[in-house]
Amino acid sequence: MNNIVFELNDVCFSYLGKFPALCGIDIKIIQGQKISIIGANGTGKSTFLQILDGLIFADRGTLSFRGQQLNEEILSDAKFSREFRRKVGFIFQNSDVQLFCPTVKEDIVFGPLQLGFANDEIQKRLEKLITILGIQDLLNRPPHQLSIGEKRKVAIASTLIIEPEILILDEPTAGLDPLTSRHIINLLIDENIKGKTIISSTHDLHIVQEISDIVYIFSSEKKIVKFGQPELILNDTVLLQVNNLVHIHSHRHKDKIHIHPHLHSEHHV
Ligand SMILES: Nc1ncnc2c1ncn2[C@@H]1O[C@H](COP(=O)(O)OP(=O)(O)OP(=O)(O)O)[C@@H](O)[C@H]1O
Ligand SMILES: [Mg+2]
Repeated sequence: MNNIVFELNDVCFSYLGKFPALCGIDIKIIQGQKISIIGANGTGKSTFLQILDGLIFADRGTLSFRGQQLNEEILSDAKFSREFRRKVGFIFQNSDVQLFCPTVKEDIVFGPLQLGFANDEIQKRLEKLITILGIQDLLNRPPHQLSIGEKRKVAIASTLIIEPEILILDEPTAGLDPLTSRHIINLLIDENIKGKTIISSTHDLHIVQEISDIVYIFSSEKKIVKFGQPELILNDTVLLQVNNLVHIHSHRHKDKIHIHPHLHSEHHV
C-alpha cells in the first residue's frame, strides 16, 4: 500500500550485542498519522525512534520506508540519504547531540543550507520559528551556553525549519515551560492538519490525546504491550500503573502522609 510510511516487522535491537533495547516490534505507520510511544524509562522509546530515523539498525527483523528496505547500505547512498533526511526530521531527546555550531542562528540554518534551500526562503522560515518559539534573544549566543529548555527550542527550530513530511520527536515537551509546550503542541497539530506524519515519544500523559491517533505502550521487556486510540489507552489505569506511567502524589496532613495515584482518566471521562 502506498500510504504506509514506515513498516516494522519483528524488529529487535541490542546495544553492543548485550543490552537488549527493543524486542519483536511490529508497527505500520500510515502517512498523516499521529503516533505516540509511551513507556517508563529504559523501555526502548528512543531506540525505536532512532531505528525509524536510520541512525541505528535492527539486529533482527525488517524496516521499510515507503516500501523500500531501510538499511545501512541504502543510507550510505548519498542521493537516497539526502532525500530521506529532507523528508524525515528528527528531534533528539538530548539537544546537545543536535547543536554544534558557534551560534544559535547558524545551528538553525545549517540543515536548510546543506540541503540547498534559497536564502530568502530560509530567512522567511527562520523568522516564523523565532516568533513561535520566542528565541529572538538567543540567535547570536553559543548554543552550549543555553539552558536545557532554551537548547531544546533551538533544536526544535533546527529540525522544523526543513519542514519535513515526517517528524520524529523524542519527548518534544520535556524540559519546556507550560506556555512553550503549548506552542509546540499547537504547532505539531497544525503540521499534522497540513498532512504531516508526527511520531513522538512522551512521558506526559496530558499531551497524549492531542498528539496521537494511535498510542503504543512499551513495557520493561522492551515490547509493545498494548496499542490503540488514546481514549482506550488512557482509560486503562491498571495497565498504566503496571507500566509505571501514573504519577504518585503525596500530601502531608499534620503527621500523616497520604499517597495516591493521579489517574489520568479522571480528566477524560
Ligand atoms: N548507548 C547505549 N549503550 C548500552 N545500552 C543502552 C544505550 N542506550 C540505551 N541503552 C539501553 O537500552 C534500553 C532502552 O533505552 P532507551 O534509551 O531506548 O529507553 P527510553 O524508553 O527512551 O528511556 P527514557 O524514558 O529514559 O528516555 C535501556 O535498557 C538502556 O539501558
Ligand atoms: Mg528516551
